[in-house]
Amino acid sequence: MLSLHPQLSSKNSLAHLLSIQDLPASILKNIIILANKYIDENFPTNKNLHGKTVANLFFENSTRTKSSFELASQKLGAHTISLNIATSSTAKGESLTDTVSTIVAMGADIVVIRHSESGALFSLLPIIKNTHIINAGDGGHEHPTQALLDVCTIGRHKQNDFPNLKVAIIGDILHSRVARSDIFALSILGCSDIRVIAPANLLPHNIEELGVKPYYDTKQGLQDVDVVITLRLQKERMQSSFIPDINEYYQKYGLDAHKLSYCAPNAIVMHPGPLNRGVEICTTVADGNQSVILEQVRNGIGVRMAVMDFLINSI
Ligand code: NCD
Repeated sequence: MLSLHPQLSSKNSLAHLLSIQDLPASILKNIIILANKYIDENFPTNKNLHGKTVANLFFENSTRTKSSFELASQKLGAHTISLNIATSSTAKGESLTDTVSTIVAMGADIVVIRHSESGALFSLLPIIKNTHIINAGDGGHEHPTQALLDVCTIGRHKQNDFPNLKVAIIGDILHSRVARSDIFALSILGCSDIRVIAPANLLPHNIEELGVKPYYDTKQGLQDVDVVITLRLQKERMQSSFIPDINEYYQKYGLDAHKLSYCAPNAIVMHPGPLNRGVEICTTVADGNQSVILEQVRNGIGVRMAVMDFLINSI
């Protein structure tokens, strides 16, 4: 029997990781448990992907996600190919489907894809049989492994007490796949106080349907929160100028020490990177003792090891 969820196998194990939205809580929690084990053990090299091939196809820029997928697959003993899209046949007009078919024909067991088109990865499912696809960010839609590493990091600092946490996401919510995936992951884990803070034109009009509370006023939105996730202005996805005055944006929405003081005293500060210092966050806060930004990067390796381990070994 075919599964109703395209990312699950007929036995309801993880076949692909395309979105957080439809992910069963048990799978999400099991990935985090295994990721925490890898993180605590400092990413020991093993043979769980021995003889397997992982291909990284990044059609959009990446520093953290791409390199941590490379590192994670090597730690699991896989062969890794990372296609340089700028010098690949994509530059000659080859479609995503044809590029992926080519890589699959070479025997890739896992294909990690970042693409500018929301939902583009779902259209690949009919052309692959024994290959697993991981979404490393598709347009403004989702960024599942970022959300997994974000909730993993929050859980480590806040004793996995998601139902009692207040979490604020501040910045360009409208264009952020990270915000969407984070909202889904936090909701699945039972967090009911999720706030999104942004100017009206950077908030999707139907955002409340995702179960979050919108705030235009930073002071109100940050009041007593335990976690604040800051986001970059995703200029590459803006059709026109959404921010007439960047200094005014920073005054209202940039996280500085004064705005951080509205949060709970032991609040943690997060950012998926890349940071634009002096736009969405100031240097003192980004590098301050409440920041866990570099921990997020480190935890990302464990999360990506865990996801690939689950895909191949259905553990
Ligand atoms: C994010 C992305 O690409 O969506 N970055 C990341 O993967 N660490 C966020 C961003 O680009 O601002």
